[in-house]
Amino acid sequence: MKLKIATLPGDGIGPEVVGQAQKAVDAVCRRFHHEVEFTFGLVGARAIDECGDPYPEKTHQLCMQSDAVLFGAVGDPRYDNNPTSPVRPEQGLLAIRKKLGLYANLRPVEAFASLVEKSPLKKELVDGADFLCIRELTGGTYFGEKGRKDNGNAAYDTCIYSRAEVERILRLAFDYAGRRRRHLTVVDKANVLETSRLWRQIAQELEAEYPDIEVDYMYVDNAAMQLIRCPKFFDVLVTENTFGDILTDEASCISGSMGLLASASVGEHTSLFEPVHGAYPQAAGKNIANPVAAILSAAMMFEYAFGLMEEGKAIRRAVAASLEKGYVTEDLAAGAAAHSTSEVGDWIIENDHE
Ligand code: IPM
Ligand code: MN
Repeated sequence: MKLKIATLPGDGIGPEVVGQAQKAVDAVCRRFHHEVEFTFGLVGARAIDECGDPYPEKTHQLCMQSDAVLFGAVGDPRYDNNPTSPVRPEQGLLAIRKKLGLYANLRPVEAFASLVEKSPLKKELVDGADFLCIRELTGGTYFGEKGRKDNGNAAYDTCIYSRAEVERILRLAFDYAGRRRRHLTVVDKANVLETSRLWRQIAQELEAEYPDIEVDYMYVDNAAMQLIRCPKFFDVLVTENTFGDILTDEASCISGSMGLLASASVGEHTSLFEPVHGAYPQAAGKNIANPVAAILSAAMMFEYAFGLMEEGKAIRRAVAASLEKGYVTEDLAAGAAAHSTSEVGDWIIENDHE
């Protein structure tokens, strides 16, 4: 197969971890005889520096013409403490999601057996946890009308969802639940929010079409508690954009490190694969960031964008082996036991054949 991949490393540790993911993709393609072509695109703060736009049209055209997008991270401290900046690196990520129509963000959460001791949660709570968070990605508060009034002294962000937006993400969630353990948890705040009541109404209507799926409804505040009180309860969790953003950071604790969580964003155009962690500017350029989330995002790319399941599995096996061996970065190992970003990447590609 010929794979045309757009690489958008972005800011902070993005370039370092995407570099390792690229190495893993190259290795797997050599072994399974695929031809791969990577084309670099600018995004985030780097794109603002070079052309004043966090998601330049040239990058968008590249994404549209590629089979998959491998994404690093965006964000820069120069903007974090400047709330009045007219342009921000994060707008690049929001624009790419919107313009590619990537309405579904899939974030699998899995407790690796070899890492259950690393989780801040009790071992018996996380051991065996394995669920999929599905976050709506192009609607809600992130994209609703926003602004200031009263001479800048009041501000608003509108949460708005249409029936069509809610229905397509819920159908996708029902489908994924059907391929897993057939248990779907719809997370909302229907006791307070009108948008949540629309979500719940549509989910209840759809239940009749998916009689083999067990559905339950959970308020987001309760879900935030249940995720750490009883993570094994969950199979597929679906929720709106902002709730999903918050809950998936929380859920990363179950795996032991934010540096392990991968994601796929799918929808109308080219799918995008991205580690859940951000730009982590304090670690940028130090070769210490955990490359596993980016490498597992590449595994998701083989599976979701190309249907190449064996290739994805080869990467997953090698990652699991590195975690078992304790060949890991400093977020998971103390002092001298820690390896660098590129050492972990090298170990993983050299061991993808077991
Ligand atoms: C994420 C990130 C982004 C988001 C930021 C960088 C805009 O936190 O992908 O979870 O809030 O969606
Ligand atoms: Mn986030």
